[in-house]
Amino acid sequence: MAIVNIPNKNLTLKDATEITDYLAKVGIDYERWDADEARVSPDADEAEILAAYSPEIEKLKTEGGYVTADVINIVPTTPNLDAMLAKFNKEHWHDEDEIRFIVKGHGLFHIAPKDGEVVSIEMEAGDLIRVPRGTLHWFNLCGDRTVRAIRLFQDMSGWTPFYTESGVDAGYQPLCFGVNYIPKTT
Ligand SMILES: [Fe+2]
Repeated sequence: MAIVNIPNKNLTLKDATEITDYLAKVGIDYERWDADEARVSPDADEAEILAAYSPEIEKLKTEGGYVTADVINIVPTTPNLDAMLAKFNKEHWHDEDEIRFIVKGHGLFHIAPKDGEVVSIEMEAGDLIRVPRGTLHWFNLCGDRTVRAIRLFQDMSGWTPFYTESGVDAGYQPLCFGVNYIPKTT
């Protein structure tokens, strides 16, 4: 289950219905999929993961016009990990939706709604988020520095970050509650 935090309201949500309702009000779709290990191992290869979740993936493709899906795999030893993360931990938007279903590990999205307070969404296995095109957001890993996620694309060429250079992201600590955030010291 995700953990949603709205720092400026001193509000934390851990209930699925409350999370879904709150995020819907700021334009973010949140879903839970059955991610029980009996369905597929989180360490299975990409084809097995995509096959196991194909009912949900095909439904999303039909509803959202997504044409491809893949599985991104980040571990602490991923080469150039910090350079990769530096692309996404500053406020940005994309010209297409950002959809992530977490298979393993954690991820921390911050969303800056046009009308409303910044909200953080700490994601774990079984959580799906859809960040619509144009939505301002940024992304951090949690302390495990591990995330394996299904991504869906409308057009892979559109999935480029455009930066706001607002500096808003610097005002929010990338705090994960489920997994301690370990600030980088080097
Ligand atoms: Fe993004």
